[in-house]
Amino acid sequence: MYRIEDHMGRRFEKLRVSLLNTCNFSCTYCVSDSTTAAPQGIALAPATHEEQLDTNEFAALIAAVHELCNLKSIRLTGGEPLLYMNLMPLIEKIKLIGIDDIRLTTNGYYLKQTARQLKESGLQSINISLDAIDTVLMKTIARHANPQKVFEGIETALQEGLHVKLNAVIMRGQNESQIIPLLEYAAKLGIKVRYLELMKMGHLHNGQNELFFSEQEILETISRKYPIRRLDRTASETARYWSAGDDRVFGIIANESTPFCHDCNRLRMDSRGYFFGCLSNANGEKLAPYIHDQESLTKKLRQLLLLKQPVKFHGSSLSMRNIGG
Ligand code: 5AD
Ligand code: SF4
Repeated sequence: MYRIEDHMGRRFEKLRVSLLNTCNFSCTYCVSDSTTAAPQGIALAPATHEEQLDTNEFAALIAAVHELCNLKSIRLTGGEPLLYMNLMPLIEKIKLIGIDDIRLTTNGYYLKQTARQLKESGLQSINISLDAIDTVLMKTIARHANPQKVFEGIETALQEGLHVKLNAVIMRGQNESQIIPLLEYAAKLGIKVRYLELMKMGHLHNGQNELFFSEQEILETISRKYPIRRLDRTASETARYWSAGDDRVFGIIANESTPFCHDCNRLRMDSRGYFFGCLSNANGEKLAPYIHDQESLTKKLRQLLLLKQPVKFHGSSLSMRNIGG
């Protein structure tokens, strides 16, 4: 086995695969102009149709990387991964490769009708984006969202026994009023909400300052209502967790205030087969030409690993829609 590790001891242990770069929502922090999104429930054709990988191509790349990195888990993202037509066959193929810990990040729209199948396919855990409980606010941020469908999706996923976490991006002047309602909604369902600091991705690369709402401000907001206590952080976890009162646990993913670059173990692949070693580097590299030559593939993966930031996240011009969360 080749050793692919950098001078800080970082390795690629988790792979995030963006299955397609389209989405039926159009969240303001992800998409700059609502007109670029499809109407509710309808997928846009991928911008580069001929480049979109099929399940065999995804599987071949995942298998080759797994062979060298011994991946611990895979997260399927998008765009919106539930719009990917061959999701279940792909999950089957990933399991055959020998990766059992398969997770998904979704906007929740199609979860109600897919949750059972996802559970049966062996999927372990789902992260669902939910930026507001207030339905008007939700539609202001996740334009084209259908709140009813998202709530039903969350509840169905839980009924099917999937492990569910909620992701809420908090923006100043937009949804800080939702921090407590999100916490209480999640607690009622017995799940965790994770608040995300706004990241400088895509169209926000150089200009999200006035919207930025910090980890500290999130903590202050919660501690005005509940006594909070820090919980231990698991190595390489993106979120740090706190308890709020007796029966609520929440997390914060604070890329800006508390970067976790120092033990980041993530590798990303987009829907065209480009790999990204760091979320702060928009230069992807296609690995397909190297998958039959372990030495060259090792070299390429090492180069990608070297792109990781030592300390701090800077963001990139890539939107999460291309590269997943
Ligand atoms: N900043 C923070 N979070 C973002 N997401 C998408 N774009 C951004 C951004 N600029 C979130 C989504 C989803 C996850 C994949 O990333 O809300 O929960
Ligand atoms: Fe779609 Fe996710 Fe981007 Fe929102 S953040 S538009 S749900 S890809």
